[in-house]
Amino acid sequence: MQFFLDSALTSEIAYALDAYNIDGITTNPRHVQASGKPFLTTIREIARLVEGTDKTVSVEVNPHFTTHEEMLPEAEKLAAISPNFVIKLQCIEPAFKTIEALARKNIRANCTLVFSAMQALQAMRAGAYYISPFIGWKEANGEDTRGFLADIMTIRDNYDFSSKIIVAAVRNAHQVVDSALAGADIVTAALSVYQEGIQHPYTREGIARFSQFWDATPYE
Ligand code: E4P
Repeated sequence: MQFFLDSALTSEIAYALDAYNIDGITTNPRHVQASGKPFLTTIREIARLVEGTDKTVSVEVNPHFTTHEEMLPEAEKLAAISPNFVIKLQCIEPAFKTIEALARKNIRANCTLVFSAMQALQAMRAGAYYISPFIGWKEANGEDTRGFLADIMTIRDNYDFSSKIIVAAVRNAHQVVDSALAGADIVTAALSVYQEGIQHPYTREGIARFSQFWDATPYE
């Protein structure tokens, strides 16, 4: 399973590349706004961090663009900036035609804001490179996500679709593990999810306990 960082902060991305060897990056308008810089400046800076690697950076088309005629040229413009870019399109009707058109030009698309298996199926049919089901939002709304992810993976496998599933809006280690158990390809999460997820109080207690024995024992 691949771990992506959900962020547009270049310092955070650089840290996660170094400390966790993260496999890719996902951004969205919220993350870009938090960077405090203009959209194009931010995504160009991120592109430089992964230049020469096969790590993808998902960059989102203006969410006000809701027609194929608006989405396609913007997607092509963004894709031309970096070979690492995968173009995020929100899961609405014109996106599917746009995803197909981009695929014909070898431009990869990430169908985002996916909340149902039917949406995921349509995105797979269109040839989306990535599909991003948002499980954190669904869980916050009291919805089931284990069955949701299992359904998407079953559909993908039943028909041998090539789309990769990025489980998105992942908030904790439990959701990372649930995604792995469902056989998802990728999770994308904030740096804190990865940092907190590898901590355990027994690990800390064990280090303290063994340090005492170590200190009471001569080295030679
Ligand atoms: C994924 O690609 C999205 O960027 C992300 O997970 C959306 O969720 P959030 O902004 O609520 O964290």
